[in-house]
Amino acid sequence: MGWTRREVLVAGAASFGAVANWPVLAGGRRWRGQEAYALPVPQETPASLPLLNCAPAQVDMGDGVLRGVLAYNGMFPGPTWVARQGEWVTTRLVNGLDEPTITHWHGLIVDHANDGGPFLAIPPGGQYDYQFQIRQRAGLNFYHPHPDMLTGKQVAMGLAGAFIVRDAEEDALGLPAQQYEVPLVIRDASFDKSGNLVYNPTSSGFRGKFPLVNGTLNPMLAVDRGVYRLRVLNGSNARVLRLALANGAPFTVIGNDGGLLARPAIVTQVLLGMAERLDLLVDFSALGAGQGVALQCLDARWNLVQFVGSGKVGVSYTPPAVLSAVTALSGPSQPTRTFSFDGMSRINGKVYDIHRIDFTVPFGVTERWRFKTGGNAPHPIHVHGASFQVVSRTGGRGTLYPWEAGWKDTVLLNDKETVDVLIRFDVYRGLYVMHCHQLEHEGSGMMANFEVV
Ligand code: C2O
Ligand code: CU
Ligand code: CU
Repeated sequence: MGWTRREVLVAGAASFGAVANWPVLAGGRRWRGQEAYALPVPQETPASLPLLNCAPAQVDMGDGVLRGVLAYNGMFPGPTWVARQGEWVTTRLVNGLDEPTITHWHGLIVDHANDGGPFLAIPPGGQYDYQFQIRQRAGLNFYHPHPDMLTGKQVAMGLAGAFIVRDAEEDALGLPAQQYEVPLVIRDASFDKSGNLVYNPTSSGFRGKFPLVNGTLNPMLAVDRGVYRLRVLNGSNARVLRLALANGAPFTVIGNDGGLLARPAIVTQVLLGMAERLDLLVDFSALGAGQGVALQCLDARWNLVQFVGSGKVGVSYTPPAVLSAVTALSGPSQPTRTFSFDGMSRINGKVYDIHRIDFTVPFGVTERWRFKTGGNAPHPIHVHGASFQVVSRTGGRGTLYPWEAGWKDTVLLNDKETVDVLIRFDVYRGLYVMHCHQLEHEGSGMMANFEVV
């Protein structure tokens, strides 16, 4: 099933020559001038993977230079996990780093022992066995380290990978698949003089100088004349992406963190916070052989991926008016709890303490959580153990966006904003964390422990 790296590389190589004449986005940063490299599609792994080894590795980011990173099973990003609803996932994490780590499955609803929160970190040389069942709907999730105070460093150094869940509801839509479904793991990165990844955060977090997509510099993908399903993750530590196509063409959002939206939404840009995901349909049927269009981050003035027409016929696809049955949670109209994200390291005035349980939440009860910022945003707020529905944003942007509908596990809080979500923990009881997913904020203490009882 799915993509092989080789097919994509061959397809990319075929139109390699077409890239040279592309206009460069004014002011945009480029890696070594005009060169572009074939976008690799990370190798897939099925639900059971005997070994998940995290260790230093040398990888080629497209330009042939071997660069030092931290990698899962030597891959950057790590293998793309694919599992179906109901399936069991098993793996053994082995810590080949010289510091503690643990792997968290961001967006997967699993019990405490499998959640990979900071309490479960293992020492260098240690191992941790995971075994959990997929008990949620289809969607794009991901995995990354979560040791207290070290998440930002380990993610920036390369440890992250996509985790795709599939189910019958999604199957029934007949969405573009195989080579027409492409994961885009987007992040920024900086390099030392030898070209290795470096982690050099400033007081406002780690912001890399170059974009990488699926671990590649200046990536390009040959696309057939048809519709593509792009599965996008913002895997940056501290960079919000404002995604748009270079020609301003509209595209269709069909899903986000928690899977399919109820209805497709047509947009021309999306503001995507750290750890947020998107499921997009992009129609390249007007792209002739050798013609190109880039997916950009308008704020960074970056071309993220250049799509180049292959001239071949692809697939056509029109999404149905209703994609999925999303039942709205009904809950209190006043907040059950309010969390103020203060400075760069506190929630409700408190710095994270791994040994302190900050609050308890009743199992199976819908609550309304209010997230406020005391400045220093953006704060993408993430909760483990349940998905939520975003019900209001006041102040700041003052509105909700179509890509924030349906189910979410991370919501972007900008300066002056107050965001309310409805949330219900109805799968597992136990100890979880909520935190800001600006990873330097998380690492300096903008995180809380809570127990579902
Ligand atoms: Cu993606 Cu608690 O993290
Ligand atoms: Cu998470
Ligand atoms: Cu924050």
